[in-house]
Amino acid sequence: MSRPALIIHAGAGARERTQASREDIAARLEAILAAVWPLLIAHGARRAVRAAVERLEDEPLFNAGTGSKLQADGQARMSAAIMAADDGVFSGVINVERIAHPVAAADRLHAEQHHVMAGTPANAWLGTQGFAEHDPVTAQRRAEWQTERAGAHGTVGAVARDDTGLIAAATSTGGVGMERPGRVSDSATVAGTYAAAAAGVSLTGVGEHIVNHAAAARIVTRCTDGLALDAAVARTLAEAQAREFEFGLIAVAADGTLVADQTAGIGTLYAACVDGQTRSFVRAERLHWPTDS
Ligand code: GLY
Repeated sequence: MSRPALIIHAGAGARERTQASREDIAARLEAILAAVWPLLIAHGARRAVRAAVERLEDEPLFNAGTGSKLQADGQARMSAAIMAADDGVFSGVINVERIAHPVAAADRLHAEQHHVMAGTPANAWLGTQGFAEHDPVTAQRRAEWQTERAGAHGTVGAVARDDTGLIAAATSTGGVGMERPGRVSDSATVAGTYAAAAAGVSLTGVGEHIVNHAAAARIVTRCTDGLALDAAVARTLAEAQAREFEFGLIAVAADGTLVADQTAGIGTLYAACVDGQTRSFVRAERLHWPTDS
């Protein structure tokens, strides 16, 4: 039996354009951890990461679901993905509109023949699957768009390991803000979200950098090939730094290691975690647990 663990993030630079204090963001993340922990214990890692990301999507402060940034044409288009190690199926939605929980749509595609769907046809299909219309645009995001402010990067995610040792990861984003319609975020690619038996990873930051680096899949593959998560993250971030890439990440390994870390220049990464001893942390920068405990 494995020790359960859960780590969540609210993106890098998530305070940008909001009135929220670091303490406010910390309190919201800790409340989500507290709400999701029983689900991890009772229902396992997939259910937990989906529930955590749904709650993060419900928080208007964060750039996913309600509170998503707007694209250049004033529309909110959202992307999300989920993956668990038991069957290794990656499922996601790209640039969907007017739903509350893109991660739930991504999870719904897990059971379908086609696991990733995009844009208007995806929305039409989700309408047939009972996904109710929901306007995710907040007054704050509309005001940002009207003054052509993109805001900082900010995406949400969760990675968990349950007591069976199953690892799952999920990520959701409203994109970078002011992007040209049609741009594809990293979140619903295997660069932004990936899980296997050895580790799970969720990314935030500049989507183009994350995709060019194949970041999540790169870290998980390194762990699968035997590298410890700490070392896999350190090597991957060093390589990213050399290319001046900017991103942050959270990760969980099969041995119970939890990591939140980032490249230089990404801004503050907000992450919080809880493990089998129900201890939680919110840190602005780097967390390697239990190494830092
Ligand atoms: N990481 C979110 C995006 O680039 O869209």
